[in-house]
Amino acid sequence: MEVSNSRHVLTDKDILLYELPTVFPLDYKGYIQRGGYQALTRAVNDLKPSGVLEAVLRSGLFGRGGAGFPTAKKWQMVLSQPDDTRYLCCNGAEDEPGTFKDRYLLRSNPHQLIEGAAMAAFAIGAQEGYLYINGTFDEEISFLNKAIDDAREHGHLERPFQGFQNGITLKIVKSPGTYVAGEETALLEVIEGREAKPKQKPPYYPAVHGLFGKPTLVNNLETICNIPHIVRAGGDFHKKMDHPFGTMIFSLTGDVRRKGLYELPLGTPIRVLIEEYGGGIIKGGKVKGFFPGGPSNAILPGDKIDLPLDLSALKAAGSSLGTGSIIVMSEENCMVQTALLYADFFAKESCGQCPPCHLGLANVSDILRKIESGKGQDGDIHQIEQLCEMIKGRGYCYLLTGGVIAVESILLHFRKEFETHIEESKCRMDKGIA
Ligand SMILES: Cc1cc2nc3c(=O)[nH]c(=O)nc-3n(C[C@H](O)[C@H](O)[C@H](O)COP(=O)(O)O)c2cc1C
Ligand code: SF4
Repeated sequence: MEVSNSRHVLTDKDILLYELPTVFPLDYKGYIQRGGYQALTRAVNDLKPSGVLEAVLRSGLFGRGGAGFPTAKKWQMVLSQPDDTRYLCCNGAEDEPGTFKDRYLLRSNPHQLIEGAAMAAFAIGAQEGYLYINGTFDEEISFLNKAIDDAREHGHLERPFQGFQNGITLKIVKSPGTYVAGEETALLEVIEGREAKPKQKPPYYPAVHGLFGKPTLVNNLETICNIPHIVRAGGDFHKKMDHPFGTMIFSLTGDVRRKGLYELPLGTPIRVLIEEYGGGIIKGGKVKGFFPGGPSNAILPGDKIDLPLDLSALKAAGSSLGTGSIIVMSEENCMVQTALLYADFFAKESCGQCPPCHLGLANVSDILRKIESGKGQDGDIHQIEQLCEMIKGRGYCYLLTGGVIAVESILLHFRKEFETHIEESKCRMDKGIA
């Protein structure tokens, strides 16, 4: 992944951070000392699968992988399928620009993930779970392998789960480390040994036609890490923590002083995240715009930073929370360049199966490049709008629509900049152009 304005921490492109001594994860002993695996024991001995589902339902947990789908509802869909064989897949493919929370969760506390995965599998009656992890996260994968061995050795995966003779098996599968490989049907393809190419939904909803044709639960890694905490507190966890809607991990990047991961209560104003936690804008001035949920959810203009980090509020404002990747842009950013950066990203990451995605996004990029380089003409903006309208929603997966939304929303809020680029044949921000 090349986009992402290289401001991530812990990516495969890191140079200085890469040379740091390894940060070792919380080990088995440390996890147990903090009450680890108590939730799993409680689930198996007292709550039973229906109790775990009930706790997740009451918690109001929604997915952290992008769509914000209610987690318990997804579990119920898998459970309602008339098939005794079901699978769990934990999605840790993480390759979206600006998102690095799953890698950190995996690196710092692999047992939390294992405990959550065992409970999710237990709740839906799955004997096998696949932990699908970005294949470039070599060190994290080795830590996870060791943690699975430790959990198994201490009997946490072996106990009689709902009559399963052999307990629960958790297997690690490496994703190819591309953005599209995180899409849930592409994930199933990779686990089955094929290329990371999404399949059309319907009919290929994982809950119905999942892994090896069986009902399959696909949940994001952070979603799954919430389960032990919810179960331990019997579903009232968020209320007990004084955060009625729970917390979410936000990956804060862009033009802020302190980029990083911040776990905050849902409902916190975006201004608080940017100013108090992120230390404000690097280049002075104001926030010009920000993606509140990664680039596949609409950008919002800077005057919206008092909106809360809340799914419904952001949806009402025309965007969403996505994976919690907040990318902030100062007034020094050229929005034509920003649109081009993301259009290029989505075009490059297209798996190429659907012509509207493969050709359409490349076409949008070409016109944007023309405008950005000072060669734009009257009619170019209209052409981009028409193209976006034509291709949106016409791919097997959401990658295409996500790319269109990035471009359309930048145009919607910053149209004047595109017009000025064309009128003046140059970018006012960049003295070198044209
Ligand atoms: C192009 C594309 C890439 C995606 N990448 C990821 C990913 O890396 N991790 C992830 O959890 N979900 C990703 N998703 C969303 C998954 O398809 C799926 O909705 C998610 O794993 C469900 O988990 P949740 O309900 O816990 O959010 C991606 C979706 C698309 C369209
Ligand atoms: S929409 Fe794009 S990324 Fe998704 S399946 Fe079609 S070509 Fe591939």
